[in-house]
Amino acid sequence: MPEAGDRVAIRVTVNGKRHEQEIEPRQLLVDYLRETLGLTGTHIGCDTSFCGACTVLLNGASVKSCTVLAVHADQGEVTTVEGLAKDGELHPIQQAFKDHYALQCGYCTPGLLMSTCHLLARNPSPTQREIRKAIAGNCCRCTGYQNVFDAIADAAKRAAADVPPEAERAATSAGER
Ligand code: FES
Ligand code: FES
Repeated sequence: MPEAGDRVAIRVTVNGKRHEQEIEPRQLLVDYLRETLGLTGTHIGCDTSFCGACTVLLNGASVKSCTVLAVHADQGEVTTVEGLAKDGELHPIQQAFKDHYALQCGYCTPGLLMSTCHLLARNPSPTQREIRKAIAGNCCRCTGYQNVFDAIADAAKRAAADVPPEAERAATSAGER
């Protein structure tokens, strides 16, 4: 059992990159991501498990990283919002949020994106009710929920049709859709 002041070694793969560090056993996963790794896209809104701004994927499941100790991610895989875009292209879920203006200040957005990833990985064709339930733990103080619901439904449709977002945008501006 580590004592106060002791540090423990953890190995975690974050966004495909392996990290090995000695950390304090009491360090929260959100602080590990933000302060130790410098991945500040994961936000802290409440620190009490209410707001969902700190949501990340841990071994494929969405977790509120302010409620998880970093040591619990040892040997695990974490995906943060920084891990979504590839080769300079937004992830389709990010693109859908952008296209539907599903953000205002954007503070809650990283958490919403990660909750949406979790939802669509398990349920590619969610109903409106299922979408609302999936993001019930993500609080948006700007209250733009309707656009968020629309963006998630659209992201699901794009994934189902396997339509690259750039093709979708091109078709929309050409009046084909
Ligand atoms: S900061 Fe984790 S739920 Fe609000
Ligand atoms: S867009 Fe501002 S808190 Fe959600």
